[in-house]
Amino acid sequence: MHLGRTTLSKFLIQQLKNVEGANDLGALLVDVAAAVKAIAAMTAKGALGGFLGELDNRNVQGETQKKLDVLANEAVIRSCEWGGLVAGMASEELDEPHAVPSEYARGRYLLVFDPLDGSSNTDVNVSVGTIFSVLRHDATAAPATADFLQPGRTQVAAGYAIYGPATMLVLSVGTGTHGFTLDREIGNFILTHPHLLIPAQTSEFAINTSNARFWEAPVKRYVAECQDGRSGERGRDFNMRWIASMVAEVHRILMRGGVFMYPRDTKDASKPGRLRLLYEANPIAMLIEQAGGAASTGRARLLDVQPEGLHQRVPVILGSREEVERIDRYHAEFDAGTDRPFASPLFNERSLFGALA
Ligand code: AHG
Ligand code: MN
Ligand code: MN
Repeated sequence: MHLGRTTLSKFLIQQLKNVEGANDLGALLVDVAAAVKAIAAMTAKGALGGFLGELDNRNVQGETQKKLDVLANEAVIRSCEWGGLVAGMASEELDEPHAVPSEYARGRYLLVFDPLDGSSNTDVNVSVGTIFSVLRHDATAAPATADFLQPGRTQVAAGYAIYGPATMLVLSVGTGTHGFTLDREIGNFILTHPHLLIPAQTSEFAINTSNARFWEAPVKRYVAECQDGRSGERGRDFNMRWIASMVAEVHRILMRGGVFMYPRDTKDASKPGRLRLLYEANPIAMLIEQAGGAASTGRARLLDVQPEGLHQRVPVILGSREEVERIDRYHAEFDAGTDRPFASPLFNERSLFGALA
């Protein structure tokens, strides 16, 4: 037994010492961690728990809900609504925000979350996760949907849990990104990965290449150059991974670097990306930036995007800083028309000559 290890509670007390309202924020994160432990127990039971499989129900995004999506959603709500810490909650699995029941006090924070990320992986025993974002709500009135539409840079805390061979909690309260591992015997999260730092360069990328025909030119250019390897533009070989759980991809990137893309594509014109801004892109972007990485839409910093809807989707490109900057540059060059032969705005696709070329 390693006495004196830094538990999540001890870490939060230390990190939030000089922060106004710190006790409430720390208590809320401990409540989130309690929900995470319950979800970890459910996912770990696999087929023995009776939690696998689909429900005959669709969420607001039109996706079929898994039993675990709904159970994980309930776990977070029940764990966080009672303590007078949140003013309201919003989730991938709820059409509208969850109002705090009248028997409970309302607090000063909003909790926004994806209860189970990568849920297509539950039935095949591959890692899934929970993603959460904490925003401020200083008004005394109950929050309306508009109160949740805050740009990611205003988040006071963000994190995810990954239910893999080990359950880990990775979070930031604005003082770096830190990883905790669940010690199942004693039921505590122990600080095992303080101050995570993403290497600025990488030779590993993650993207769903089955969508390649729908990508925009700058993404096609970047991926083609990675695939060309040593004999191409990049002069080195790249490796590729795709787990279909963003949490698991992001965790790998925090551990050893890499770049993850779910870019804008033309697969479905009504969707400007696959991932949701408020409860997927923003919390992960905060963790990535706090670990020295970058997170972008390809054309703007993710954390600066002004949300317009609770379930709004957004293009996501994140990870090792120099790679994300390169992909941003490819977007800028494409938009300026300088990435094509006869590099001149005159030959831009949208120009007279470009249209003829
Ligand atoms: P969710 O399970 O919460 O709906 O999110 C799944 C997301 C993300 O985690 C992952 O990167 C992506 O969807 C997988 O998309 P593909 O089905 O295109 O692989
Ligand atoms: Mn998700
Ligand atoms: Mn989900």
